[in-house]
Amino acid sequence: MCGIVGYIGEKEKKHIILQGLKELEYRGYDSAGLAVLKDHKIVHFKAVGKLENLKEKTKNFQSKGFGIAIGHTRWATHGKPTELNAHPHFGEFSYIIHNGIIENFQELKKELTSKGYNFLSQTDSEVIVHLFEENLKNNEPFEAFKKTIQALKGAYAILLISKADEEKIFFAKNLVPLIVGKNDDDEIFFSSSDAPLIGLAKEVIYLNDFDLGYAKKGEIKLLNNSKSKALNYKKLSTSKLSAQKDGYRFFMEKEIYEQSAVTSETLMGRVFKDNIELENINDDFFDGICEIKICACGTSYHAALASSYLFERVSKIKCTVEIASEFRYKDPLLQNDTLFIVISQSGETADTLQALKMAKNAGLKTLAVCNVDNSSIVRISDEILLTRAGMEKGVASTKAFTTQLAVLWMLSLKLGKIKGSLTKQTIEKEIQALLKVPTVLKVDDKIHEKIRRLSKRYLHGHGFFFIGRDLFFPLALEGALKLKEISYLHAEGYPAGEMKHGPIALADSELFTIALMPKTLLYDKVKSNVEELSARDATILALSPLEFDIADDFIKTKGYEHPMLEFFEMSVIIQLLALEISIRLGNDVDMPRNLAKSVTVE
Ligand code: AGP
Repeated sequence: MCGIVGYIGEKEKKHIILQGLKELEYRGYDSAGLAVLKDHKIVHFKAVGKLENLKEKTKNFQSKGFGIAIGHTRWATHGKPTELNAHPHFGEFSYIIHNGIIENFQELKKELTSKGYNFLSQTDSEVIVHLFEENLKNNEPFEAFKKTIQALKGAYAILLISKADEEKIFFAKNLVPLIVGKNDDDEIFFSSSDAPLIGLAKEVIYLNDFDLGYAKKGEIKLLNNSKSKALNYKKLSTSKLSAQKDGYRFFMEKEIYEQSAVTSETLMGRVFKDNIELENINDDFFDGICEIKICACGTSYHAALASSYLFERVSKIKCTVEIASEFRYKDPLLQNDTLFIVISQSGETADTLQALKMAKNAGLKTLAVCNVDNSSIVRISDEILLTRAGMEKGVASTKAFTTQLAVLWMLSLKLGKIKGSLTKQTIEKEIQALLKVPTVLKVDDKIHEKIRRLSKRYLHGHGFFFIGRDLFFPLALEGALKLKEISYLHAEGYPAGEMKHGPIALADSELFTIALMPKTLLYDKVKSNVEELSARDATILALSPLEFDIADDFIKTKGYEHPMLEFFEMSVIIQLLALEISIRLGNDVDMPRNLAKSVTVE
């Protein structure tokens, strides 16, 4: 998830681009860059790290008078955050910026390299500019651009400028957002979201998938699937903050709704009919691995716990999971046939970082599942799997959790294939289920509305139990954590089968039990546990595809045939439940008391 801005007009272009990128910094910040085409020259700058570094680099640069400019802030998905990997990418006389993932970039890169094109970066995006200049050999610029876009597979929001046509910004959009706007001075603006356009553009077009075209002073040409398309202008929202939240009440709510889109990017370029490709991790990295140990904290620990069921059930590899703050002070027995995995959204959690260092010092192979590419944990891990969730601003982790699980599910399939523990048919069936995750994560508005309504009944009481079995026990832990950290109400996640070993003594009408009752895993066992609680007057909110009439509240789920799909569906529900209870209590959902987004201290 990166940030893109563009401008055509007379104003000082560096300022406009930097201001726009500042508004988009929440979309990514491991590097940034800009390019300005004016008076038959293209000048560009790139900088690694925060946007301030680009500002510093361009402090003596100014560009007044008519011209065109593009700018980009990056959230790495391919290639480390270096200056060479920063956008814009360029050929001989053209520059591009890109948000998304080009799935077929390897084959395009191979073909272009064989034609003599020299690639400077490790990114997928760079293929776009070289392909454009290759197509220019036999086509006028817009035709060359159309042919370039037609050759791409995957997600993209692209702006391209070229000396081949100095008045235009060429643009294309598929699966990731891109907006084009104009004002009464015939200035043209591009952005990944509303915020940078407020106060500049008067009317905007929210581009649709497979839209492409060009913009020049006072003119926008728009095609969809090669057919001319009317320009459907809309009014802009007025407040920048609500624009950054894209109209949601809190960043957490926005991030719950983003889960479907971001997991599409998490899977992109990695999932094939009967195989999983984990970009730069070669199969031989897993040679000699007989055990997996995973270390993490908080929500990431819950993802780790859930994935351990997959590693043992699917990959047939022994898997243990440790809370990092406990692990770092144990005297752990570590063997070098153990793959040590750390999971962290921020990549900066002190306890997890220390655990990772201990594993490295013990000579273990290490792999990080992380969301921030230029983080400390990523820098010292042997191998990395990025979750590609984009920046998560809500302190309560949501899209990081679900993209972690998507990555860990892929990893369990990869290891199952390498270890020969999965038949071809099983792998294909698992992959068919895996590809449904983005759809499953789409928020069902009716369910959200039902949760908003019933949440009024859960604002007090002497506590909550989230209960589940198997994979749904870690989810119960996660549901309890979500509720605790933003509503400040006490909640515990508990194995459903354990309630009779003590906690059931708490059962009464003021004990709220959220029961996770998937149909694909131990339904009857959980049902009897819930009946025991209900018989003692506990108040039950049941999540299940199967009607359950003794529940006081019941949320009917869709009844997906795979446990992991039921898991993802219930993940959204427990996130929404915590959100709506917290909103009713008037709490600051995005910045709950006493918490930080990244715990970089012990
Ligand atoms: C999750 O909602 C919490 N904010 C917290 O538990 C978090 O998951 C934990 O601090 C670990 O952070 P990390 O994933 O960045 O390492």
